[in-house]
Amino acid sequence: MRHPVVAIDGPAASGKSTTARRAANGLGFAHLNSGLLYRAITWMALERGWGDSAPDFETNVRGLDIQLVRTPGSLRVTVDGEDPGAALHAPRVTERVSAVSSVRAVREVALTHVRAAAQMRGLVCDGRDIGTKVFPDAEVKVFLVASARERARRRLLDLGEPPTEARVDEEAVRLRARDRADSTRELSPLRRAPDAVEIDTTSLTVEEVVGQILVLCRDRGIRPEDAPEAPALG
Ligand code: CDP
Repeated sequence: MRHPVVAIDGPAASGKSTTARRAANGLGFAHLNSGLLYRAITWMALERGWGDSAPDFETNVRGLDIQLVRTPGSLRVTVDGEDPGAALHAPRVTERVSAVSSVRAVREVALTHVRAAAQMRGLVCDGRDIGTKVFPDAEVKVFLVASARERARRRLLDLGEPPTEARVDEEAVRLRARDRADSTRELSPLRRAPDAVEIDTTSLTVEEVVGQILVLCRDRGIRPEDAPEAPALG
């Protein structure tokens, strides 16, 4: 038996995590950014210098001790007892993560952890395949999109960089390349589920997007939850 799930998918930097965290807060649900699992595995592979030779790589991934740990805002990820923190968003991880995410063992390991998170309490989960593969029966499915330039602008602001024309152009090229890799891979590609509600956030504020999602939740009969804090999810 699982608790209600709100699935939020979409391309890179479309505002999924911020939106998901605030929606979870409004509902009293847990929030999981599933991308952190893929980033954590990518980070560990880089730290340990695992090559790309598939069998070893897959065995190594299956041997990792991954934990989802509750924080006041969201679930964070530890790997073999280490908390990678901000290193999860380092450029070397971002450059590599789409390739690592296309490996079968990586997807299987991540899927197990994401599904387990919904056993404990209501969950707002963001990612690429949450509504299509991980929770095809999610109570609410949202697909967030925004223009590549607006996504690039937001990403630069997140990183504390001024969004000059030149930097926005450069970042938009990177985001599009990752979207292409994520959408064309064989396993669980980034795709809008047929029953997902698409929201174009290009000219919307976070509050407006969260407001629309909370209305969808109310219309689908999802009630705010008041579950006790769980210390850790394995
Ligand atoms: O924050 P941003 O949208 O840039 O990316 P993220 O959510 O941190 O996800 C990083 C990468 O993990 C994506 O580019 C995908 O390659 C992968 N991912 C995935 O394959 N499936 C998911 N459910 C979530 C992320």
